[in-house]
Order: sequence, then C-alpha cells, then structure tokens
Amino acid sequence: MTGRELMREAERARRRAYAPYSTFPVGAALLLRNGRVIPGCNVENASYGLSVCAERNAVWKAVSEGELEFAAIAVTAREGHGAPPCGSCRQVLHEFAPRILVYWRNARGRIVKGRLTALLAKPCDLKRRTTR
Ligand code: THU
Repeated sequence: MTGRELMREAERARRRAYAPYSTFPVGAALLLRNGRVIPGCNVENASYGLSVCAERNAVWKAVSEGELEFAAIAVTAREGHGAPPCGSCRQVLHEFAPRILVYWRNARGRIVKGRLTALLAKPCDLKRRTTR
C-alpha cells in the first residue's frame, strides 16, 4: 500500500472524528505488517484532558485486537492544517514500532514522511535500554 493510499484511509477516518471542543478533526490510518489497516480518529470529551488523539486511538485499537506489528501510519487534519503526530503519540508509537514510517499532510496539503527515529530524538525506552 502506498503512502497516498494510506492517507486516503486516514481521510476517511477523519470523518468520524468527535471533536466538538477543538473543532479540529484528525484522522489516522495505521498499516500493520500483515497489510491490515486500522483507522483512528480523535475523540474529545467535555473534560478536555480526557480527549485522545487519532493516532493513539488507532494504536489502542490495534493492540487491543492483538496486533502489535506496525509498518506505517498516516495522519491528516483538515485542508490547510498540518498534522504531524504530537509528542505523546510519537512516544506511544515508539513503544511498538521505533522505526515506523510516518506520513502526514503539511499545511500546504502535501504528503510528507519521516521515520519515527527522525521525529523523536530521545524516547523513553525501558525495553531496549537505549542511551540515545
Ligand atoms: N490531535 C490529534 O488527534 N492528533 C494530533 O497529532 C494532534 C492533535 C487532536 C487532539 C485534539 O482532539 C485536537 O486534535 C486538537 O488538538
């Protein structure tokens, strides 16, 4: 599956975003190594701090279904808004896939990509005990 195709899945997921407080809908599509795509959207709450990002929602869904092998993730906000994953989501992705390929749309609408290793300089990692 290409980055563009994965992004299309993220766009589809964004339509299901529940974001009445920020009015900032976000969609994500997590590509598993077995080819399955797990969609996620942000889900907000009246107690604002309970809101969860689209990326983490997709990760929780995958893990809760026994899927831990991630290949790539695409993230998109509405047109005109860039949506690189937030720091918390980068750390959560690192837990399962330190080298995952991340696609996001920049504010100009272009799809850009980078490895998580380039996006998260010094992850918290108790499994690998890295000193990065
Ligand atoms: N949000 C995401 O879903 N993913 C990101 O990468 C950035 C932020 C959500 C959280 C909140 O519901 C809204 O966007 C505004 O921050």
